[in-house]
Amino acid sequence: MPDHIYTTHDKLVARAEKEKQLGQSGQVIWFYGLSGSGKSTIAAALERELHAASRLTKVLDGDNVRAGLNRNLGFSDDDRRENIRRIAEVAKLFAETGLITLVSFITPKRELRESAREIIGDTDLQLVYVKASFEACQARDPKGLYAKVAAGEVKQFTGKDSGFEEPTDADGDHIIDTEAADLTACVQQARSLVR
Ligand code: PPS
Repeated sequence: MPDHIYTTHDKLVARAEKEKQLGQSGQVIWFYGLSGSGKSTIAAALERELHAASRLTKVLDGDNVRAGLNRNLGFSDDDRRENIRRIAEVAKLFAETGLITLVSFITPKRELRESAREIIGDTDLQLVYVKASFEACQARDPKGLYAKVAAGEVKQFTGKDSGFEEPTDADGDHIIDTEAADLTACVQQARSLVR
């Protein structure tokens, strides 16, 4: 770990001043779940709704971030850990700027979700498990990824040869069940988490 000398700038515009200007509080709503569970769809629809209500938002999504900031990362346990660490740090920066930050990553292990909580802090973070079974996601297969998995073309696939840990009641995460409710109802459930 390199040594750094940090300087605090006391003339920067404070978070509270930014939030006052925006008329909203910064927060992070972190959707997690299997590929194809509906997390990106819910985040996109929620963002559209919030935008229509003049709220300032930012969506961070697995596919987009992995095409840029995290393009050097794959799907090993270590790479997923680094992926989530970077996203949590970026989400924290957005929330501190007063943005409603919608994060959509598989975040397959409890350890990863806890590391996001440590970085962002309990006050600003809400974890939301977007629940759908492997079989349901496989049947939806919106990107044709599950077909590639079945053909043996994708390694370390979440829910198959790479693990996914469902939350327990003790985790206290919100749950949106996309097999039990339609998109409109799921988005309304997510909307109720916006401060
Ligand atoms: S993680 O586990 O949180 O680091 O994953 P994430 O950054 O959300 O990336 C998931 C998206 O990457 C695509 N993809 C894979 N997912 C899982 N396992 C493997 N092996 C894999 N390879 C590529 C896939 O499109 C995921 O997008 P979503 O939106 O989840 O379907």
